[in-house]
Amino acid sequence: MSTTAATPPVTPAATAVAHANIALIKYWGKADDDLIIPVTSSLSLTLDDLYTTTTVCFDRDAGAGDVATLDGEPVTGKPMVRITALLDLVRDTAGIDRAATVTSANTVPTAAGLASSASGFAALAGAAAAAAGLDLSDRELSRLARRGSGSASRSIFGGLAVWHAGHDDETSYAEPVPDPHHFAADLAMVVLVLDAGQKSVSSRDGMRHTVETSPEYRPWVAAHAGHLASALAAVADRDIVALGEAAEVNAAGMHATMRSAVPPVDYLTDASHAALAAVAAARDAGFPAWATMDAGPNVKVLTTAAEASRLEGWLREQLASDIPGLHTVVAHAGPGLTVTREDC
Ligand code: DP6
Repeated sequence: MSTTAATPPVTPAATAVAHANIALIKYWGKADDDLIIPVTSSLSLTLDDLYTTTTVCFDRDAGAGDVATLDGEPVTGKPMVRITALLDLVRDTAGIDRAATVTSANTVPTAAGLASSASGFAALAGAAAAAAGLDLSDRELSRLARRGSGSASRSIFGGLAVWHAGHDDETSYAEPVPDPHHFAADLAMVVLVLDAGQKSVSSRDGMRHTVETSPEYRPWVAAHAGHLASALAAVADRDIVALGEAAEVNAAGMHATMRSAVPPVDYLTDASHAALAAVAAARDAGFPAWATMDAGPNVKVLTTAAEASRLEGWLREQLASDIPGLHTVVAHAGPGLTVTREDC
């Protein structure tokens, strides 16, 4: 009697690595909540040391539902709903009905205003599309990542990226900023991690509340186009002073819109304000240093690659006694999305 060894079915999987990005000119407010079309365009720097690695395998029966882990912990509740919503877009496009196993690991403190949703959804989009057999262009990947989290549209690209607000799904995507002289390589960010805990108001809720209630929101939007134009001109001129000034004004304005919302939303803490004062003092002491903050208390300091570690040491010394738990990261321009196809 002869037996034939059954060949186990091969299920395609893919692993993607996407890096966090920090906006120099911000996205804050949606024109379309479902499609995630922003009110403003935005400009960001993708960072090297902060990234998410995600593997997707469509290995589960449709009825079993998707499962995901992040840093070994099961993902549940709203974050899981957002993951399944992105996977549904991929399943619809690819015409598959299998549920997925998603395994993700972060070097970015999750949801602490360090852009973990940007790297997370960019990695998920890249891995899910490849695992489903889709062959998407970078622009299509950017649009897909955008549906998971707006800022993720920019994490498809390395260096400096601009997300064009557009007016519908097709016209709202990010792309690299022309950078023939590799200006991005001259830039660095000193990230002052003041509190790595979860933020209490998500950026999604915070921006909706700001758009709906803040009298400062429309004036900020009106000024925003000028901030972006100045920043893009600064990149073309390799002028970090002009870039830093535009970034600082834009971020301060964004936080002013939140503080004037009813009731106010204020992500900045006493430690954030101490950090902002230290950045101003660093500039007075001759450092290239400009601060930007997102939906959390941490302060990111734009500087030059040449001065980044000296600035980090200086800021640590200034802040050590005021902020005992201070943790700092020096990040440089990072790469765009990478995807590897494999079997589950
Ligand atoms: C302050 O991209 O996290 O970091 O699209 O609702 O997922 P959703 O929001 P998200 O918002 C980021 C806001 C910001 C500014 C920015 O990255 O441009």
